[in-house]
Amino acid sequence: MTTVPISFRAFRVADAPRLERWLTAAGMPLPDRVSRDVWADRMAGGDPRIKALAALAARTAVAFLRLDLAPDRSAELTLIVDPRHRRRGVGAQLVERAIAEARRIGLRRLVAMVRPENDAAMRLFANHGFEPSAVRMIGFLHLARVVHRADLERPLEISP
Ligand SMILES: CC(C)(COP(=O)(O)OP(=O)(O)OC[C@H]1O[C@@H](n2cnc3c(N)ncnc32)[C@H](O)[C@@H]1OP(=O)(O)O)[C@@H](O)C(=O)NCCC(=O)NCCS
Repeated sequence: MTTVPISFRAFRVADAPRLERWLTAAGMPLPDRVSRDVWADRMAGGDPRIKALAALAARTAVAFLRLDLAPDRSAELTLIVDPRHRRRGVGAQLVERAIAEARRIGLRRLVAMVRPENDAAMRLFANHGFEPSAVRMIGFLHLARVVHRADLERPLEISP
């Protein structure tokens, strides 16, 4: 698999039409028409509980990730890759970035909701340590992984 190198920037309101197209194609829910503008504004920094990033390859957005922060220091991760750029390691880079972001802001846990028949997402999340949690939801598997801060901190120095 050839891996596409990507960089990240904050989500912008102008990204919304592209994201809407991909969400529709993936059968993922869109906000209703009346609240679309509000939705884009919230994703673009208008809501402190949402952290949304665009992933760029050669300056073009090829994927998006969104973290919905909860008061218990967990966040739900949602991600989507441009259908033309799938299976080239972009999804893996999104999850790695989300985990790094979660560590940076001191989260304890990341969760994701995935349909069990979504082979790509099931594999992607399993590869990154997500496991089914005890939460039950009709039609979805609720996956979770702990976010460790260990690699941000200096190891203990133990003298003999
Ligand atoms: C899930 C999704 C983000 C994966 O993105 P991607 O860029 O194709 O992922 P990667 O190329 O990094 O591949 C990740 C893993 O999934 C596997 N994979 C990707 N597509 C697959 C498919 N259609 N069937 C089976 N496995 C698949 C890859 O082989 C890889 O596993 P490996 O490293 O063990 O070989 C993408 O398919 C997508 O946007 N789907 C629609 C939205 C969605 O379902 N989001 C997840 C729920 S929030």
